[in-house]
Amino acid sequence: MNKKMEIYNEIIAPVIEELVHDYSSSEGVEISYVYKQIKNIIPKIIDEYFSGQPPQINYSNFFVRIGYLHRLLPGLVYNYRDLIKKALSLGYFKEKEIRVIVFGGGPGTELLAISTILKRKNINFCLTDKFDSWADCWDLLKDKIIRKLQNLQISINCDFLPIDITDLNNFYKNKNRLRRNKYYFVNYIVSELYYKSSLFTEFLRAIIEDKPVGEKIVILLADRNQPIIKEIIKEIEDELDLTKKYFDETNIRCPENYFYNLEPIKLLGKPKTSEFKSIRYIFESNPPPF
Ligand SMILES: C[S@@+](CC[C@H](N)C(=O)[O-])C[C@H]1O[C@@H](n2cnc3c(N)ncnc32)[C@H](O)[C@@H]1O
Repeated sequence: MNKKMEIYNEIIAPVIEELVHDYSSSEGVEISYVYKQIKNIIPKIIDEYFSGQPPQINYSNFFVRIGYLHRLLPGLVYNYRDLIKKALSLGYFKEKEIRVIVFGGGPGTELLAISTILKRKNINFCLTDKFDSWADCWDLLKDKIIRKLQNLQISINCDFLPIDITDLNNFYKNKNRLRRNKYYFVNYIVSELYYKSSLFTEFLRAIIEDKPVGEKIVILLADRNQPIIKEIIKEIEDELDLTKKYFDETNIRCPENYFYNLEPIKLLGKPKTSEFKSIRYIFESNPPPF
């Protein structure tokens, strides 16, 4: 697959179409009505997303989720793919079996990013999110990804865990699933949690402290480039005594030229992504001492 061209056209757009068609038949409404609702809600998502305040986005609303898929997902995938490439160049992801936990993974952004970069790997991937309503997008997206990658010697094993990462009890309840991993993906979550991030810090601390002696975790974190978000990330870094292995500031660029004349594009417009300004980090924890 030519990743630049095909991520939206071959994976995201067909998922949107399928979900919209399913919604239209289950609710007995016209497809054009569904697209109209999505189109109306997109500016509201964008206003919330770029308000500079903790975004109040209701992900349990179907139109919101599809609006997110159309308008934000391509740019977010693109940005995170690029961060994974940076990590590869620094020597990460060398193992044959890659074990990843994603916090607040939403529709599966990070699976789309990692699976279109790595080759000849077994990826064991667990997506966690507070909203289990994402499961509709996630199921379709992951099925499409797995089908597309069948011939690329990538095997993907994935599951979905509906948990709130600001509640430490969820760590203890799901300890077995959360502990056996090396890579933890945190993509546009700190900006969602804002000052509740200190509770997330405790969640991460529990994971780090639970590691076997001498083992560390690697955190790939991307978020909005805003002073307050940088400050909160610095607090997490200091609190957990993380080692910063990489940092950059980017302007997410999604190759808009490649969007075809597909149904979602015709009815919702082209996804615009140029206003994303992102900060990206790779952190390592310090392993528990011997
Ligand atoms: C901006 S979206 C990012 C989704 C995905 N990582 C991406 O980059 O497309 C934020 C996600 O965080 C999830 N979320 C918000 N608060 C959460 C919490 N306390 N625990 C777990 N997930 C949460 C939301 O459901 C949503 O999927």
